Amino acid sequence: MFLFVCLIAGLLANSFADDKDGGKAPSLQLNDGNTMPQMGYSFGIHHWDARDPNYSHSKCCCISAAEYMLSPFQIETAVTKALDAGYRLIDTAAVYGTEEQVGRALQMTTVPREHIFLVTKLAAYDKHDVVFALRKSLERLNQTYVDMYMIASPVSFTPDKSAFEEIDYVDTWRGMVEAKTPGLTRSIGLANFNITQVKRLLELSHVKPSVLDVEINLNLAQYKLVEYCKQNDIVVMAHTPLGRRFDHDSPGHYQLKDDPTLRGVGEKYGKTTPQVIYRYLIQRGLVPIAKLNSKTLEDIETSMDIFDFSLSDIDMKTLSLYNENYRSVHPKEWLNHPYYPFVDNS
Ligand SMILES: *[C@@H]1O[C@H](CO)[C@@H](O)[C@H](O)[C@H]1NC(C)=O
Ligand SMILES: *[C@@H]1O[C@H](CO)[C@@H](O)[C@H](O)[C@H]1NC(C)=O
Ligand SMILES: *[C@@H]1O[C@H](CO)[C@@H](O)[C@H](O)[C@H]1NC(C)=O
Repeated sequence: MFLFVCLIAGLLANSFADDKDGGKAPSLQLNDGNTMPQMGYSFGIHHWDARDPNYSHSKCCCISAAEYMLSPFQIETAVTKALDAGYRLIDTAAVYGTEEQVGRALQMTTVPREHIFLVTKLAAYDKHDVVFALRKSLERLNQTYVDMYMIASPVSFTPDKSAFEEIDYVDTWRGMVEAKTPGLTRSIGLANFNITQVKRLLELSHVKPSVLDVEINLNLAQYKLVEYCKQNDIVVMAHTPLGRRFDHDSPGHYQLKDDPTLRGVGEKYGKTTPQVIYRYLIQRGLVPIAKLNSKTLEDIETSMDIFDFSLSDIDMKTLSLYNENYRSVHPKEWLNHPYYPFVDNS
């Protein structure tokens, strides 16, 4: 009996990859000495998730969770569900309006805090005092530190969100470095920067970002940017990993979730189309960040079930053919800002 228990315990330990934390995803080494799980879950609710084409593009970037039909309680439950499913990278941002719910879920879970990789991001309208902005996030999260703090966008707005502000992201980066020193965040990174901007930052700063978080999915491969980051030892997080064409109505385009080729690839491995897409991104060395909305609540568990198979080279090639340099997320309210990043999608 004892032997049997040991055997089962051993099998379970092995099934959780090589991760000391007990999460299901393997760990990646960051350039600052920390490690990070290779799959994450984002608790952000953006207007680009909303199907209403008229949805407010006027002010800043987001709608509240409630407006996308998820109550704070549902978000807390979803965070708990993600942790139970083996997620250890939990992604939020000041602008998502979900930091408090994430914080409450972290209070409730039995997963120890030090096993969780908590990410939050500096809002585009809050760049005057980075350390103060992070302290406000920590207060909402009810945490003494986060594992990763990111500049959410190279674009800036005035604090009342009514107008553009031209704040050099290299100056903002100095504030990020300052936030890391007393341990308010263990690592620092960037989100939605393009290759020109990352290069300029590396030239002008002595501290490298550890991670770059950008949209990558079947329709937007971003090979040049990924290769550049790889050469510079920067890990790439792939947000919006299913892309907008997965299940949103986009005129003139079918939905990827119904694509027979992708379904066929999945059937070979006994996997769903989203699982195949996440696995494809994992095999490209990226960190997919699955995203919550009221439709994906049910898929949290299955989305983590991607570490027991490998796509063949031929299937990797098949999936690569969907690249069209087509970007899903390009907030209209960022357009015409001097640091607008999404000029070249190739
Ligand atoms: C969007 O706005 C237009 C013009 O105000 C209106 O005719 C249309 O019905 C709106 N669409 C939705 C989905 O609300
Ligand atoms: C914040 O965390 C502490 C423990 O670290 C806990 O005692 C307290 O209840 C939490 N506050 C809220 C508002 O959740
Ligand atoms: C990156 O953004 C800057 C500022 O908006 C722009 O000048 C540059 O062309 C962009 N580079 C690419 C590769 O898109």
